[in-house]
Amino acid sequence: MIRFLERHRFRWDVAIFVLTVVSAIEIPLELVLGVSLDRKAYVFEILTAALFSADILLRLLYPERTDARQPKDPRLLRLNYLKGRFLMDLSAALPWTLLVGPVVYRPDGMPDLLTWHSLDLLSLFRLLRVFDFTRKVENRASVNPSLMRLFVQLFWVALAAHWFACGWYYLQGDATPGKQAENFLKAFYWVSTTITTIGYGDITPKTNVQILYTICVQVMGAGFYGFLIGNMASLLANLDITRTRFREKMDQISAFITHYRLPDNLQTSIRRYYTHLWEVKRGQDDVEVLHDLPQLLKTEVQLFLNRPIVEKVPFLKDASEKLIRDIVLNLTPRVAIPGEIIFRQGDSGAEVFFISRGSVEVLSGDGKQVFAQFGEGNFFGEIALLLDTPRTATIRATDYCDLYFITKTTFDAIISDEPEFTARLRQIALERQKINQDRGL
Ligand code: CMP
Repeated sequence: MIRFLERHRFRWDVAIFVLTVVSAIEIPLELVLGVSLDRKAYVFEILTAALFSADILLRLLYPERTDARQPKDPRLLRLNYLKGRFLMDLSAALPWTLLVGPVVYRPDGMPDLLTWHSLDLLSLFRLLRVFDFTRKVENRASVNPSLMRLFVQLFWVALAAHWFACGWYYLQGDATPGKQAENFLKAFYWVSTTITTIGYGDITPKTNVQILYTICVQVMGAGFYGFLIGNMASLLANLDITRTRFREKMDQISAFITHYRLPDNLQTSIRRYYTHLWEVKRGQDDVEVLHDLPQLLKTEVQLFLNRPIVEKVPFLKDASEKLIRDIVLNLTPRVAIPGEIIFRQGDSGAEVFFISRGSVEVLSGDGKQVFAQFGEGNFFGEIALLLDTPRTATIRATDYCDLYFITKTTFDAIISDEPEFTARLRQIALERQKINQDRGL
């Protein structure tokens, strides 16, 4: 049962959230329109009350820990709930519309709000669930927190506008049958022009109460609206923070290029390099991003990101799981641009490289002969490491390359307990070396 609930609890929360929103719109509206319940509305009221009561029961039976500061013990969680939100949730769950008695009408045909009937508004405590729900959604993967905040703010402003409109409709006191929808639309129009401080002045307050109400809506609305617009600007800028940061970096580089009047071909190479970085890694430095993570999470992320690189290497197909894991965890990225010499023949060798994307050519020391072309899934640089010689060839990138390397010390440590693998690798190294020797190099 618990497992079933865990799996479906989010769906349940979504349903309760939708119901909450419907209640928040419908309850004030019904109140000011003075609607008496018909059979359908009756059923809806009972159903909603039943679902909210079931939600309370669920919270009591299977309390959820939504915050790291909350106790782990379910009994303590339950006690906290009972001491805190329980009463509010309970009053929100009751079918007030059915309990509070019929609507009492004033002589002008409008409902009288100064009666028990207005207790119906207690159901608005249901809105507390919006906070629970948004917190849960924020903690879920694949939700952009900035976008989420923007939606939440828009939601509250739209809801407040609806409530203000209900209030204005009521204060207008026009209960002419058949004109309710039109009057409400006008009320909503009045609210939207007032809170956005446009105020065309076509609908103006007449009575003292209306003037006071208008002042309140103006002050609150202007505050809300200003807050929303201000936040919207910064949220939109933050929505794609990586892109913004990358653009800033590009601006900085453009300023640098212009200041030093770099030659055209160099400018193009620099720009292309950054475009490549953006396309491949969204301009992020993986090492920097992962830096703050605890070791365990860092390892898991590295395994997830680097495993496909290793899986591309046919030579590692039959390698043991431990060896693959060790390699995956020790790969360091390096990007090479077309024409870049990764190392030269005769250099001392300190790393073995794997090609994740792009291609390189293996050249003779003078660069005149091409021994081989390597692409995705190939590796190079093993001869110097295994046979303790200087580099036997020069390696030049022929394309934008995403390379990953392992340093000699780490590589030695990794292969030390893999005699079979080392022998196979040694075999390849010797074969490649022999080809070069046969060529008289
Ligand atoms: P290393 O000698 O460390 O550095 C140059 C690398 O080029 C070498 O390791 C091999 O990985 C690779 N290499 C050298 N000669 C050949 C060849 N003839 N065929 C394929 N690869 C080679």
